[in-house]
Amino acid sequence: MRFDLLTLFPEMFEGYLGQSLLKRAIKRDLVEVMLHNIRDWAENKHKKVDDRPFGGGPGMVLKVEPVIECVEAVRGDGPRPGHLVMLTPQGRPLNQAVVEELAQRERILLLCGRYEGFDERIREILEPDEISIGDFVLNGGEVAAMVIIDSVIRLVPDVLGDEESSGDDSFSQPGRLLEFAQYTRPREYRGLEVPAVLLGGNHE
Ligand code: ADE
Repeated sequence: MRFDLLTLFPEMFEGYLGQSLLKRAIKRDLVEVMLHNIRDWAENKHKKVDDRPFGGGPGMVLKVEPVIECVEAVRGDGPRPGHLVMLTPQGRPLNQAVVEELAQRERILLLCGRYEGFDERIREILEPDEISIGDFVLNGGEVAAMVIIDSVIRLVPDVLGDEESSGDDSFSQPGRLLEFAQYTRPREYRGLEVPAVLLGGNHE
């Protein structure tokens, strides 16, 4: 499974990409993550990627040209163009069903916004799958992109060992909202005891 991250802040991903499960998956060639800086596609001398909105208003808007050219170049790099996801608070809400749908893809491009938003023509031209990770506003799509990678790679075959298997995850079974309460040693802590039914060794 390949992810391409299109962002103005590729350094934000460095720590995340080096963490245990993902690092192991990358090393084992199960997952590939490519970083692309949208600023590399800015034509102007100052590498400007944002501008003031027509009609006024606060904040800056991501310019259409560098984003389109970056997406086109990244799509052209590799045997398949991939599924384009744009992270925005206006997108369809992320849930486990969406994660399962994304996990079927062989390649996903994650387009991260910043500033007040994207020039609307970016949506019109690219027709991306817009996804929101919740009804709140982040400073940009980077953290949301990490949430997508984190949840999707759990479903990529062989990424999790048997011990960590995703089959038991909360939400992965219909109607099952939360995983059951779990305990490990010690049997008693500050007067709180592990329920006796869990101590018998009978898994059922
Ligand atoms: N960018 C800003 N806020 C976001 C959100 N809630 N989900 C996805 N991308 C975002």
